[in-house]
Parts: sequence; C-alpha cells; structure tokens
Amino acid sequence: MCGIIGYVGDRECRDILFRGLRKLEYRGYDSAGISIVHEGGFKLLHSVGNLDNLEAVLPELGDGGTVGIAHTRWATHGRPSNENAHPHTDCTGKFAIVLNGIVENYLSLRAELRAEGHTFSSETDAEVVAHLIERAYKGSLRDAAVAAYRLMEGHFTYCAIAVDEPGVIVGIRKETPMVLGLSEGENFIASAIPAFLAETRTVIFPEDGDVVVVTRKGVEITDLDGTPVAREAQVVDWDEEAAEKAGYETFMLKEIHEQPTSLADTLSERVSSDGRVALDGLGLDPEAIRNVRQVIIVACGTSYHAGLVGKYALERWARMPVEVEVASEFRYRDPVIGPDCLCIAISQSGETADTLAAMRLARQAGAHVLAVTNIVGSQATREADGVLFTRAGLEIGVAATKTFLTQVLAMLMLSLYFADQRGHLTPAQVREYTEGLRHIPATLRDYLEDGAAAKVEGVAKKYAASRFFLCLGRNMSLPVALEGALKLKEISYIPTDAYAAGEMKHGPIALLEEGSPVLVVATDSRVYDKLISNVQEVRARGARVIAVGSEGNESLSQMADEILPVPRTDEMLAPLVAIVPLQLFAYYVAKHKGEKVDQPRNLAKTVTVE
Ligand code: F6R
Repeated sequence: MCGIIGYVGDRECRDILFRGLRKLEYRGYDSAGISIVHEGGFKLLHSVGNLDNLEAVLPELGDGGTVGIAHTRWATHGRPSNENAHPHTDCTGKFAIVLNGIVENYLSLRAELRAEGHTFSSETDAEVVAHLIERAYKGSLRDAAVAAYRLMEGHFTYCAIAVDEPGVIVGIRKETPMVLGLSEGENFIASAIPAFLAETRTVIFPEDGDVVVVTRKGVEITDLDGTPVAREAQVVDWDEEAAEKAGYETFMLKEIHEQPTSLADTLSERVSSDGRVALDGLGLDPEAIRNVRQVIIVACGTSYHAGLVGKYALERWARMPVEVEVASEFRYRDPVIGPDCLCIAISQSGETADTLAAMRLARQAGAHVLAVTNIVGSQATREADGVLFTRAGLEIGVAATKTFLTQVLAMLMLSLYFADQRGHLTPAQVREYTEGLRHIPATLRDYLEDGAAAKVEGVAKKYAASRFFLCLGRNMSLPVALEGALKLKEISYIPTDAYAAGEMKHGPIALLEEGSPVLVVATDSRVYDKLISNVQEVRARGARVIAVGSEGNESLSQMADEILPVPRTDEMLAPLVAIVPLQLFAYYVAKHKGEKVDQPRNLAKTVTVE
C-alpha cells in the first residue's frame, strides 16, 4: 500500500523520483506527489489519479534540486485528492514527509496538535507526522523524526526532509517495508527495490525501529536511542527488464506467459539426484517433520487459494491434518495451537499485515512458522522460523498470476517432501509425482505457445457483457474455481461467485436462469463423474457451460457450450495448468470491457494495512 522513494545525490532528482514512482505504481495509484529541496524551500507537486496525471504536470517543478521524496498513494484516511496526496508539510513549510501505512492514534494526535495551534490541510493520518516533527525540531531532523515516532501507534514507514538540512533524508520503519539503495555519491530509500533498480543493485533492508539517515555520502543506521546498528548490504540479481512489458500489451498478460519460466525457476535445484523433492531453509529436521501433528495455513486472497491446494496435497500425500485460514479471521479468533503445530504463512509480498499478524500469533503460541514468499528480505522472512521461496520474479500486475502458480507448486513440493520424510508415500511414488512436476513447465510452455491466449480470447469476448458468472469446482479443482472467480471480480468487475459444485444445489443454483454463464473446472479427477452430474444440473436450468477440461475429452466437449482444453496431467498437479485458461478468460473479459487490467480500481499489490 503506497509507494515511497527518496533520493539524495548530485543529480537533479525530479525525473529520478518520477521513474522510481513508476516502478512503485503497483502499490497504489489514486494520487501522487513529489517534494524537492530547492533554494531554501521545497518545490511541491501533487496530482490526483494515476501517474500519467503527475507526469503531465511534472514540468511545473522546473529544474534544480538534488534531494527529494515522492509518494504514490492507496487511500486509507481521506479520499483521493490533491490535499490528501503526499508529501505533507507542516505549518512552517520547513518539513515534508511521505508515509506508507497507518497512524492508528492520529485523531488524538491531531486534536492535541490543533489545540496547540497547528493547522491541518488534509484529512490524512500521515499529516500529523509533519506537525509532530515541526513541534519536536531543535536542530536535528533525525531526533525530531524519532520524537514523532515515539508518540505514534500503528504500522508505518516514513521519510522526512527539512529545509534547514538540505542534504538529508531521515527514514524510520515499523512493520512496513523499507529498503535502501547504495551507490557512488548518491543513495536511495524506498518501499521496494524496483524503485531504484535501474540505478543500483546494492541494497540494505533496515529492521523495525531502525532510524536511517541518508546522505549523498552514505547511510547511517541506528536504533531509536542513537546506537549504531549493523545491517549487511546485499547485491540483488533482479532483472530490470522484469519491470518492463517486453512487447505485451499489459504486465498481467506478460506475467501469465512467464509462468512456465517461473515454475522452472521455483523447481530448480530442488530435485535431488535420485529424483525426489529436496528442500532446505525450512528450519525443520526430519524428526521435527515427523513430529508435526497439526498444520495451519494462513494467507489472504489468491495466496489463500494456493493454501487450499496445499491442504488437499498435505492431507492426501503426507496424511497431515490441515486447516486453511483467512489470516484476517485467524488473528482475531482464539485458535487452538499446540507446540507440535506447523503454521505455513503464504504471502507473495511477505508484507501483508494480516498474514504477518497471524504468523506472530502462531509463533507466540509455540508453533513453528514457515513462510512461503516471493520476496527476499520481506518482513515474513524475518519473522519466520523457516522460508520456502517461490521464484516467480517481480510481479507488477496487481492481479496475481505467476506468483499464484509458483505458490501452488511450492505447496505441492512441500507436500511431497513431507510425505517422503513421514513415509506416507513410497520413494517410487515420490519420484513419479516429482517427475510429473518437472514436466509441467514444458507442458505449459507448449500450451501457451500453441495459441492458448487467442483461443480463450475467442470465448471470453462472447461473454464480456455478462452480468454475472458462477465458477464451480470439486476437490483439487475447487481452489482453481475460487481463484478464477477472484480474477474475474478483480479485473472485470463482473460479480462472480465460486462454489464447491456439490454445494450448488444448496443455494446458488437459484441464481441460474436461461443463458447464465457457468465456468466449470472439469479436468480429469477421481470426482469427475460427480462433477459432471453437477454440470447436468446446471444445463437443466438453461445455463451456458464454459468448461475447462482435459484435452481430448470428447464427451465433455459435447456437453459444454464452450470448451477450454488444457493438457492432461495427474489430478494432483492439475491446478498448475487448469488455472491458466481462467486467468486468460478473466483477462480478456476485462480487456473487451475496456477495463484497466494492470491497475484495477480500489486495489493495491501489497496490503500493509489491516
Ligand atoms: C489477488 C491478489 C490478492 C493477494 C492478497 C495477498 O490477485 O493478488 O488477493 O493475493 O492481497 O497478498 P500476499 O500474497 O502478498 O500476501
């Protein structure tokens, strides 16, 4: 939620900051702004809407200024407007701040500051930071920023600049992301690496409570009391091109097509010479794996759907009892967690506030916490006892695609690994499934290169004017139906429900009328015949059936109004292929409706608020 970038160096920073914002736009895009220290004051610019609007007025900032901060917003407190866009300044105009996160006690702080004569010009929680710094300032921006921090509750990262300290940016983080980029004679502070990846690959990840002073010469990191803390610099090998569309019309379409590579990368070096899954970094030795009595998977949104696939696989292969929980619910229940519990937190960003809170709860109760995430250095990796990285690469499209597929793969690999360690599958069975997994990237590549997108588009455009979709699945195909429905809702804005097909007759079937489009995930499986009975129930109500089925299934082709065939796989691996036509279907429905696919309304890529 919200993207921050700050620059200190010798170069004019206006365009550097704007380019950084472009790379962070996925974090929020309802308004944006830039503040640059210049000739004893600030140059300030705000705009409402996405960054195209800021770009259009960027020349108004003029030339000059080598220190600045910038922000792209996802509104929490106060609607998108010029007044509510960051950076915010204090009453004297001497301090400017940008903030990502939420100041929970901002109302009481605001009332206190107002009573002291401070005037507010926005409705945001963030503006209190500028006024708190103004009140505390006695010649050191660092000390004033710390004084503000000590009064604030919530979770946030903020950066501040001061007219009287023109070569300095101060940043503080609390439970939301911050990364520093180091270069020769210039340095960066940002919410995420892509913001400065074109300029440097040397990064430092500060920890919670770290106070960072960034100058052109370097970065100083201390704790709140001023004691220096050592944080190691790392060099990231991210590909800058990952942040470009590479000829595709959108990031989402590009990322759908990158899935074979993401899967191959996630599998790479995780299969031993004898053909079995080999995982390290989990923080669990074989005995600990055998002693796990309870698995709780916590996640949100798309990651939750990957967790559901994990449940089916862990139960069937490893015979482990598994609960999958939406993190925002789990954290406010009184879940029963024993010391023999393994909590698996799935989060592509590793920064989702609810998932992090659920992890903490599980950890405090004595569970071993394993994070499945795509982002090296993310908060989840610091708070977990072990980490299983997906290797999807950078995902810019707000609707998750390749990160989902790699999460599903990670959960299948983990399930096979546990099944092997616990002796519930024979080595031969483990080898067979592992071999199946190894074939998936090539299978999917062939499928996509064979014109899958064009075929799905042909079907999708017929349904772009639909008012409602129902998605159905059973067993391993249920999480696929749920995820397909989420994609449709997110980017096409068409109301879509997803149900376990066998549950349909207990209510949702009442929604169906002549011509209602129903998407059914009907790949080969042990419950295929049962699912087909549900398809017949749908057809009997006059609904139109759009079926994702295993290629060559002639009887399904005859039964369905539209067929989206996918390569045949073992039913346990089928989610890895069956979701792809549904991603494409949602994509093309949205495209033909004229929606902005990469930046759906009201959403942001990283949800660092509760
Ligand atoms: C949907 C989507 C979201 C995320 C959810 C969790 O396309 O991307 O539903 O899956 O916000 O995010 P992470 O995985 O970063 O915890």
